[in-house]
Amino acid sequence: MSRFDQLDDRTPYFSVKYEVAQAQGNEDTLPFWVADMDLPVAEPIVEALRRRAAHPYYGYTSVDPRFYTTFAEWHTRRHGTPMNPDLLAPAQNVVHALLHVLACDCQEGDGVLVQPPVYFPFYSIIEKLKLKRVDNPLVLKDGRYEMDFDDLEEKLKSENVKYMILCSPHNPVGRVWNEEELTKLVDLCYEHQVHILSDEIHSDLILKGKHIPLHTLNDKAAQITTSFYSSGKTFNLAALHAAYIYMRNEEQKKLYLDLENKWDIPLTQLFGVVANISAFSECEGWYQEMMSYLQSNLAFLRDFIEKRLSPIRLIEPESTFLMWIDCRELGLTQAELRRFFLKEANIFLNCGEMFGKEGVGFMRWNIATPRARLEEGLERVARALKKRMEG
Ligand SMILES: Cc1ncc(COP(=O)(O)O)c(C=O)c1O
Repeated sequence: MSRFDQLDDRTPYFSVKYEVAQAQGNEDTLPFWVADMDLPVAEPIVEALRRRAAHPYYGYTSVDPRFYTTFAEWHTRRHGTPMNPDLLAPAQNVVHALLHVLACDCQEGDGVLVQPPVYFPFYSIIEKLKLKRVDNPLVLKDGRYEMDFDDLEEKLKSENVKYMILCSPHNPVGRVWNEEELTKLVDLCYEHQVHILSDEIHSDLILKGKHIPLHTLNDKAAQITTSFYSSGKTFNLAALHAAYIYMRNEEQKKLYLDLENKWDIPLTQLFGVVANISAFSECEGWYQEMMSYLQSNLAFLRDFIEKRLSPIRLIEPESTFLMWIDCRELGLTQAELRRFFLKEANIFLNCGEMFGKEGVGFMRWNIATPRARLEEGLERVARALKKRMEG
């Protein structure tokens, strides 16, 4: 038995995942939506937090330099590419970081390109800053999503695009972008003087293929890329708010830190720093075990969908624990689809439409949960589907 098979009750601990699912459904609704794991975090992290908490002084605290060096070393070990810790800046989380980096350099109306269906907070960041959203939708070809480079070139030429937010790997479609794709993308952005904000929060969660940190691709990429990382997904620490921005250069880092200073925004907090240092320096074993647990959950889900949930289909993921489920052949509207999963199967998923109109007919299913819970969720869908087919 794996430590991840443990079925803990998170409801007494203000878990958003459970609270929202139960508010939408009922006390028994199983949540497979928001991107956190129902898997206990690594013991060395808990121990490091306990140790620090036992020292009863939680006053203003500076950032331990190991916050940066342990992450840079982890990144290098993981991807085989160098990272200069001096170019890292702290942030509360990735969404906050994206918003602030754009705020440093954009004027109202500047174009920001995104590739829907994509992580929907990108849209609200663009809206909050009164920027212009420019869509370059991904295309689904033979069960796999690809970038549309003709459309991209067209939009870069005509839409006053200043930034692009790249989701790499991509949430929700699960793609790990390859060298050829990234090279084409960088060539086009470089030619049209567009900076890329590369959200690489899922880059440790690779199921197939190899993630290329965009800043290491080539010289052009290094000049136009700002990258975003966090321990939130890899080590399940979203509530501790300690993320990283890998800046293009010292000037950009200064601009960002000056903005944060101007508004007196705290960039990290004590327990997040303590947890990240432990995560990135002591938790390789937990990480490897977690990845093989995800792989086996994926194999289970894939097999179950193929055998029992037809005509529902899985878009084969290359990364993340967020599965993109193609339900179009059920022939339901998005509202009916949501109702089917929530009211008939009693499980709560993310609706594809949240990620843009390209997501209509899809649902997103988080499989970072004990196998028994995943199995129960799938059985519920199988029963609801059978009832519907018979009814
Ligand atoms: C692509 C992507 N970026 C950012 C986030 C959120 O990160 P944070 O909690 O650090 O803002 C998520 C969470 O699911 C995500 O999928």
